[in-house]
Amino acid sequence: MAQHDGDDLTAAGTELDTLTHRHVSVGTAVAVPSGAFTNPGTPPDRIRATDLDPRKDKTAERRVGGLFLLSIAASIFAIVAYIIFPIIPGNLSSVRLNNMLLGVGISLALISIGLGSIYWAKNLMKDGEWEEHRHPTRGSEETRAAAVEVFRLGNEESGFGRRTLIRNSLIGALVVSPLPAVVMFRDLAPAADPVALLKKTVWDKNVRLMRDPSNTPIKASDVTLGSVFHVIPETLADSPDFLEEKAKAAVLLMRLKPEDLHVSPERKDWNYQGIIAYSKICTHVGCPVALAEQHTHHLLCPCHQSQFDISHEAKVIFGPAKRPLPQLPITVDAEGYLIARSDFHEPVGPSFWERS
Ligand code: FES
Repeated sequence: MAQHDGDDLTAAGTELDTLTHRHVSVGTAVAVPSGAFTNPGTPPDRIRATDLDPRKDKTAERRVGGLFLLSIAASIFAIVAYIIFPIIPGNLSSVRLNNMLLGVGISLALISIGLGSIYWAKNLMKDGEWEEHRHPTRGSEETRAAAVEVFRLGNEESGFGRRTLIRNSLIGALVVSPLPAVVMFRDLAPAADPVALLKKTVWDKNVRLMRDPSNTPIKASDVTLGSVFHVIPETLADSPDFLEEKAKAAVLLMRLKPEDLHVSPERKDWNYQGIIAYSKICTHVGCPVALAEQHTHHLLCPCHQSQFDISHEAKVIFGPAKRPLPQLPITVDAEGYLIARSDFHEPVGPSFWERS
């Protein structure tokens, strides 16, 4: 067995202590300064039931195999469920069912592999400890010279440095080869003008504000000071592109004391007795702005911490967003339900679309 405490480092080979299963890999030993603390060593090996009893060893093996078979079954389940319960465009329940079954199948498959591997490692694999002494990472002079020689020979045999036509055309081919991917990525952008796409939402004059997701109308008297409502338009349900339209039309509704609101003259009638509605889509890169601080009147986007001051027309007070959240002009109908006065007056979402 290799001795390796204090300065006494043996610098050769690997040994296996057959009694303790302890492996000692000794590379080029690094000198240990005198006065270094004593190596406490490793704790003694724990003898497991599977080390002593072949039947328990076999049982553990079957359990591991069972978990891996379960993983196979779960993967097949995920594929079959994906095919049998496809996503039907415009049908939100089909999206939920498809995602849920796919998630259950894939999760179970991965968890089974993980559990099986852990169980295998803990109960069946040899559990001896390895010790590896530190050694210099720089290669020896011979190794370094050999590496240089390999490169020199490779250059000589391929003619890479000599045959300039081949070398230069190869470099050119490698530089140009990613371009098809760039062209294909460009097609991911919307074909139509993005500003026009984001400027028009489902909101329109007299469209009621509805709670999301219960789709019930909201009376002005329901909106108490400090409350926050997640809101969608009443006509959203009729939209053929439900999810895309919802992603543009989502709104946050809050109530402030009218004297706390600082509004410009052209927005004087955009709020109703201190009830205000702003687009929920962050003007940075489009995350939902969903955290409201009642006392400071701040809205926080959790993605990159942009903050908007709702008492000052949602202007940006912190973070990477460059544009205030668009405001939805609102009022109430004859029954006291909140309705929109019009669509937003500017594009919702990330402001970089406006650069064009
Ligand atoms: S998306 Fe809101 S801060 Fe980046």
